[in-house]
Amino acid sequence: MSLKLTDSVTWVGKIDWALEKFHGEEYSTFKGSSYNSYLVRDEKTVLIDTVYGPYGAEFVANLEREIDLSKIDYIIMNHCEVDHSGGLPELMRRIPDVPIYCSAQAVNILKGYYHADWNYKVVKSGDTLSLGEKTLSFVSAPMLHWPDSMFTYMDKENVLFSNDAFGHHFASDLMFNDLVGQDELMHECIKYYANILTPFNKLVTKKIKEIVAMELPLDFIFPSHGIMWRENPLQIVQKYLEWADDYQEDQITIIYDTMWNSTRDMAEAIASGIRQQNKDIAIKIYNVGQRDKNEVLMEIFRSKMVVAGCSTINKGILFHMAGMLEMIHGLSFKNKKGAAFGSYGWSGESVKMVADSLEKSGLEMVGDGLKVLWKPDSAAKEECEAYGRLLAESL
Ligand code: FEO
Repeated sequence: MSLKLTDSVTWVGKIDWALEKFHGEEYSTFKGSSYNSYLVRDEKTVLIDTVYGPYGAEFVANLEREIDLSKIDYIIMNHCEVDHSGGLPELMRRIPDVPIYCSAQAVNILKGYYHADWNYKVVKSGDTLSLGEKTLSFVSAPMLHWPDSMFTYMDKENVLFSNDAFGHHFASDLMFNDLVGQDELMHECIKYYANILTPFNKLVTKKIKEIVAMELPLDFIFPSHGIMWRENPLQIVQKYLEWADDYQEDQITIIYDTMWNSTRDMAEAIASGIRQQNKDIAIKIYNVGQRDKNEVLMEIFRSKMVVAGCSTINKGILFHMAGMLEMIHGLSFKNKKGAAFGSYGWSGESVKMVADSLEKSGLEMVGDGLKVLWKPDSAAKEECEAYGRLLAESL
């Protein structure tokens, strides 16, 4: 499959309808994804990015139906993570001398992954490549989201090839943002931002301001995953600026892990207390042992406060809560409050461990945490409600 996107740009990527997990088991992709590769034809012909390795042979065969491979003058690798560079080995077996334009860091990554000495041409911000009528300009974007990341801008048709930035895991052969359901599109965009780009908020803001200051006309943003932005492409840029500004909505997310539902009962009683104090705030409650972690992290991203509860087991915390706390730590959320709770039967270390972890992750803790011995009775539930009121009051 290929699709003409503009007079000069043709999509030659792969829609991965069956993909359920990305980054190993790290990221859920309930709507599949795509690896977007673009063929740009002018006096010179350039291929921008490839696809994930398992689809390399299919990609090259498909590309060959679109163009005689010997007619490709340049390859540009905006980013070399394997979901974009995986098609290169197969392609370079066919056209081994074609120059690959990429960042200096990308050369190291490509050599590290593929152990090949291809014809690398290192580029950086401000460098250009003439295709004849149109000119490509490179914009370095290190740590958005890998050290090698860069964007490529094409004049005349005013296209930003942004690679992972402004992308999302969403398989659709409708291809353009104005043709797909807006709610499901934005759900996947914020999930992608929350789970992948949150640690780089400051760099996102800086890079967007740098690009805006260049005053480049922009009619299209073509990312490397998901659909292409052609209707009001600046809407996703505006969203990125909002999300990068330590984003929060009027929401509290309560997460818990539980053995015999006592900690769940506490979660629900705390939620009741929050509601007594605040009629309007959104409250989300998730059992982290059951819910998809990336969807939960997206809800945490949207929240003013995270209230985390866990039973104690073997003087520690339960498996799924441990994983969730590690991910909260890694994402470096800012401007959020935190609180801890949990039921216990013997030693009861979990509440302090959860509170310590949230505090180490940069959350501003409210209260000392709430512990309940065994199953909460009505007095303990009232205590939970009072704790909920206290948490809501702190916002
Ligand atoms: Fe889509 Fe960072 O790879």
